[in-house]
Amino acid sequence: MRVGVLTGGGDCPGLNAVIRSVVRKGVQEYGFDFVGLRDGWLGALRGHVVPLDVASVRGILPRGGTVLGSSRTNPFKHDDGPRRIEDTLAAHGIDALVVIGGEDTLGAAGELSRRGLRLVGVPKTIDNDVAGTDYTFGFDTAVGIATEAIDRLHTTAESHMRALVVEVMGRHSGWIALHAGVAGGANVILVPERPFDIEQVCAWVQSRFRFNYAPIVVVAEGAVPKEGQMVLKDRSRDEYGHVRLSGIGEWLALEIARRTGKDARTTVLGYIQRGGSPSAFDRWLATRFGLHAVDAVKDGDFGTMTALRGTQIVRVPLPDAHTGTKVVDDSLYDEFEVFFG
Ligand code: F6P
Repeated sequence: MRVGVLTGGGDCPGLNAVIRSVVRKGVQEYGFDFVGLRDGWLGALRGHVVPLDVASVRGILPRGGTVLGSSRTNPFKHDDGPRRIEDTLAAHGIDALVVIGGEDTLGAAGELSRRGLRLVGVPKTIDNDVAGTDYTFGFDTAVGIATEAIDRLHTTAESHMRALVVEVMGRHSGWIALHAGVAGGANVILVPERPFDIEQVCAWVQSRFRFNYAPIVVVAEGAVPKEGQMVLKDRSRDEYGHVRLSGIGEWLALEIARRTGKDARTTVLGYIQRGGSPSAFDRWLATRFGLHAVDAVKDGDFGTMTALRGTQIVRVPLPDAHTGTKVVDDSLYDEFEVFFG
């Protein structure tokens, strides 16, 4: 059997670990051969197919990014997208696909699978917001990077007795903000799921200063004030309709300074959270997802994705496009309110 592998959406640490384990087990245990499709669904549309064998995956386990390239291409936004993908698979003798992506890439995979494409999904994203799995790989690495940044910001904030706002990624979900904020001892954590009251944020900041402590405010890029809107970088949208965020951290620092009279600055962590080597946990999870994905191909269990449930890897149906977002629920967020202020 010939299996194609593609990585779509925003890159994240651990993608190469999946590619490696899919290829290693597929070749060694099942005698499959493999090809890569470059840049996610774009390569499938354009017929950009590259060789992929055991030699080409050697040494990639600890490397960030993806050796296959990635893009936010939505095959349903291109003329004849599904048919062009079928043509690519037929032209290269590809019998099945392993699709590694977040909710958008996997949503498209789910739709293509319903139209008859033989594929298995593997969930990835630093945001940890794919429904059906307890964790996605990439998340642990991002939380580690953000936590280290918060630790560092504490000492400089204390030295100058100023408020420091840390903007982390998370468009629709605040998993990175919540985990890194808790691990880093933040005084305020703001997530997209809970529109915030700027007066309350300033009250928490003030109370921290009263204890002679410099406050750290962690905010997800998609967080919104109760009376306001998401802060956009520009008005452009990707092929899945997502706007570009970033700016809420800057807005918060200005508001905090204006309303409290205290000095406030912002650090935007941005792509630092996505780059570089995966953590040990992400290598472990990505490797297991890859092993189980190739088993699903072997079993002909198409239209499924690998998922982590507790410590078990299971197979679940691929998510429907746009219904796959896993968000922070109120009760979890409320657990940590004791640390605010
Ligand atoms: O989906 C992962 C993510 O890193 C989000 O947290 C962030 O909003 C988005 O990707 C940024 O995407 P892009 O790579 O298109 O700038």
